Amino acid sequence: MPHKIVVIGSLNMDLVGCAARIPVVGETITGHTYFSEPGGKGANQAYAAAKLGGRVSMLGRVGNDDFGRAMRANLQHAGCDVEGLLSVEGASGIALIFVADDGHNSIIIVPGANDRFSPEDVDAGARYLEGAAWVLLQLENPLPTVLAAAKAGRRAGARVILDPAPARAVPDEIFALADIITPNETEAAILAGLAPGALNPEQALEIARKLQERQARTVIVKLGEQGCLLVNQKSQLIPAPKVKAVDTTAAGDEFNAGLAVGLSEGLDLAAACQFANAAAALSVTKLGAQASAPTRAELDAFIHSYRRSL
Ligand code: ATP
Ligand code: RIB
Repeated sequence: MPHKIVVIGSLNMDLVGCAARIPVVGETITGHTYFSEPGGKGANQAYAAAKLGGRVSMLGRVGNDDFGRAMRANLQHAGCDVEGLLSVEGASGIALIFVADDGHNSIIIVPGANDRFSPEDVDAGARYLEGAAWVLLQLENPLPTVLAAAKAGRRAGARVILDPAPARAVPDEIFALADIITPNETEAAILAGLAPGALNPEQALEIARKLQERQARTVIVKLGEQGCLLVNQKSQLIPAPKVKAVDTTAAGDEFNAGLAVGLSEGLDLAAACQFANAAAALSVTKLGAQASAPTRAELDAFIHSYRRSL
């Protein structure tokens, strides 16, 4: 049986509009597709890990509205344990997402209940961490809550994977509490105090080393279609399978889910990164966040055909 994974984080209802491109400031354009679906970085990671066969529990907060009920039900549907998911009076988190035809996106988040998920809530849910091997965190809850979650994870004897997303300034303490951090290119640059932009592997390595000076241990920089750079004492570029990207929303979440599932099944870090790259590459070939998460059977078939094509 795979080891238990606990995701402590955010849930948003994603309201998605697709158009040829993303409008510039002050511009109104006509889109061609609209849909809403459960999202949020925490819930996406929990949902995707459960679909990949992980043994997953999710802790967080939704509002007592239709969105909250739909998000809870969707996680349950994927086989994720939601007993520790709290409901609070008021609105659930939402995300307004623009997706362009080249697969890129822009997002505004209105946190709602996610902002009311407190350190006390984390401590009250400590029993759900019992027996956890891996705890997954992101930065869509208040920072004191993320810190409390990292501490609770360590107290429970779990290893902690922090996705420092969306990009924001964080104290070194949070790096010291995490075993692995997984910034994308933008987040890595911002965390290192540099201007955001696309990175080549050499630049990513330089930034990862800066983050290690700030007490980060293992840094995995997610590099979009280039794959990821795994940096601990050594560094290794792990390329992603080539695919036609339709929508990269939640690619980073799918990556973290794949990483956690791979590690929970006993893969070493490099092999878990390969597994995570494959899961994330497959997810970008479909529209949506949770809607694009592959099942384990789909991922195994994709990995099999990719290996045969090499
Ligand atoms: P998001 O914020 O949209 O969830 P992200 O910006 O955090 O995603 P990316 O670096 O864009 O993360 O992508 C995460 C992972 O997804 C990559 O490390 C890679 O494994 C995979 N990936 C993303 N885009 C592509 C692509 N075009 N082709 C293949 N794999 C991709
Ligand atoms: O990482 C993708 C997610 O970011 C979306 O599902 C949206 O809810 C935002 O949190």
